[in-house]
Order: sequence, then C-alpha cells, then structure tokens
Amino acid sequence: MRIILDTDPGVDDALAIMYLAAQEDAEIVAVGSVHGNVPAPLGALNALRVLDLVGLDPPVTVGAAKPLAQPLQTAEFVHGDDGLGGHAGPPPRGSLAPGSAAEQIVRLARANPGELTLLALGPLTNVALAVLLEPDLPDLLRSVVVMGGAVTVPGNITPYADANFYHDPEAADLVLGAGFPELVLVGLDATEQARVGADWLNALSELSGPRADFANKLLDHYGQFYSTMFGEHSCTLHDPLAAAIMLDSKLAGYRTMPLGVELTGTHTRGQVVSDLRSISSDAYISTNAGAGRVPIKVAEKVDVPTFLDQMFNSLKS
Ligand code: RIB
Ligand code: CA
Repeated sequence: MRIILDTDPGVDDALAIMYLAAQEDAEIVAVGSVHGNVPAPLGALNALRVLDLVGLDPPVTVGAAKPLAQPLQTAEFVHGDDGLGGHAGPPPRGSLAPGSAAEQIVRLARANPGELTLLALGPLTNVALAVLLEPDLPDLLRSVVVMGGAVTVPGNITPYADANFYHDPEAADLVLGAGFPELVLVGLDATEQARVGADWLNALSELSGPRADFANKLLDHYGQFYSTMFGEHSCTLHDPLAAAIMLDSKLAGYRTMPLGVELTGTHTRGQVVSDLRSISSDAYISTNAGAGRVPIKVAEKVDVPTFLDQMFNSLKS
C-alpha cells in the first residue's frame, strides 16, 4: 500500500510512523504536517526526527499553519512542548521538501491516479485545501483513512468532539462531504478500545533497541498525561490503530452512513452529526447533515488483541 501521510506529530502520530515503518506492505510515499498537537512547522521537524529513527526518508512538507475558520489551538498539554513528550532531541538530520502539504497531496494524486492512499492523522485542513485545489481528488486517490471524530461515543478534547475534528471543524465537514468513494473513519468509537494499560506498557519497557527505547519514552510521557486525566497509567493508541486498520480492514467492523460535522453549535462545534435512526431512506427527514453525501465507513468493533500484538512487534525490530 502506497501512502501519503498527513500528520501532527504528536506522540501517537510518532508511534503510527514507527508502526508503518515495520510493515512490509506499507510504503510511505510522502509526509505532510498539519497544525494540531503542535504547530505545523514543528510537526514537520518531528516527522523528520521519527522517520530518521526508523530509517525512512520520504519527502516531508510543512502543511497548513492554522484551521480554515478559527484561531490556531494546539495540544502541547498532551504531547509536550516539543510534541514528542520532551524527547524530540536534536534537530533532525533530514531537510524539508519545498511546497505545502496540500500541494504535495494534489501533485502526487495527479501523478499516481488511483494508486495512493491518504492517511490523515491530524486535523483535516490540508486534505480540505487539497480538495479545493483539485476537485477531482476523490477520483484520484485510491482511498482515504481518517483518524478523527466520535460518532456514538463522547469526544476527548470536548465532551462532543475529538481533537482532530475540534481543531478544524470546517475542514472535517468539507472532507466528509467531498464525495470520496472510499473513506474510512477511525474515530474514538474504535480508538478508545485501543487503550493500553500497565501490563502492556510494562512489557514494552522490557524491550530494548532504538525503536523500543524511543517508544517507551513517548509512552511514559503520554501515560503520565492519562494518569493525571484518568487516574491510571494508560494511554490510547489512536493514530497507530488508524494506520493498522488502513493496512488490514479486517481489524474492525464497520457501519456505513453519511456524516456531517456541527459548525454552529455553541458547545458542539466539531461534533460528528449523523442519523442513527433505523428508518427507511424515503421516510420524512426534516433535516439531515448527511443529506446527499456519499456514505462513510465508520470503524466500530476492533480486534484489539491482534492490533496490540502487531503494535508491540513493530517496536521490536
Ligand atoms: O483525538 C485523537 C487525535 O487527536 C489523534 O490523532 C491525536 O494525535 C490528536 O491529533
Ligand atoms: Ca494525530
């Protein structure tokens, strides 16, 4: 699978890159950073740092500096001031590629029609900009996998929205309504199942080697945040799970439905809005945020043991 990665590294984004690097059936063709966990320029440097650690050197471009229609908000309180739990280390050896992340998505999709999968692990600003630059993008990409949203479960950054959708609701709504024929949403409905606890973290801490050592540092920081928030040393592997489901769709079950994103709710901006009613499609529907939209595959039940084994093994090499 040939992948364009759009990401805001970020601890779990970094773990997703490490996961992908260990998969023989995954090729990271290019990386674009986006504002989110940290500002986009720092996210790009962090991507270079992690890619260097795992021995990969795809082009890395800097993406959108801020959301489409709201001030920039970042999440250093979760991921650390350097975005990597305080373990970013020295400046990366690699250098950034020219151009923007959105332009990179469009250029590569046009040059490789129907071949590339876009994995979006941060706010969807770059993906939205790419759709605006190239309206045929839905027909040029093979598929799109998005980590974001919360359909039937509470949010994380607010009670209603996950961080990626909250950090750019307009972009999320534009992407979910762009008409991608194959878009898989790996939201909190799925990722909150991939929460690792003390046993898994302790087992990982027994591993040595550059990848395991770095992962343990990242997870120690991430786990401390969860200890503060939830009173237990645990953490949720949001982005690595989205990467794993992208490579092996059998890791999850799905519900397919059109989706929108709330844009004007005083308290609910960024919330995924859907019609969960089991009524026939020609029933009277006074309002439906998904009306006329191409349905989205929403990941639901996850084969967590299989994923966690894959994640653990990806850090051994
Ligand atoms: O809500 C979780 C998502 O927001 C993850 O992608 C995490 O890295 C943050 O970007
Ligand atoms: Ca992310």
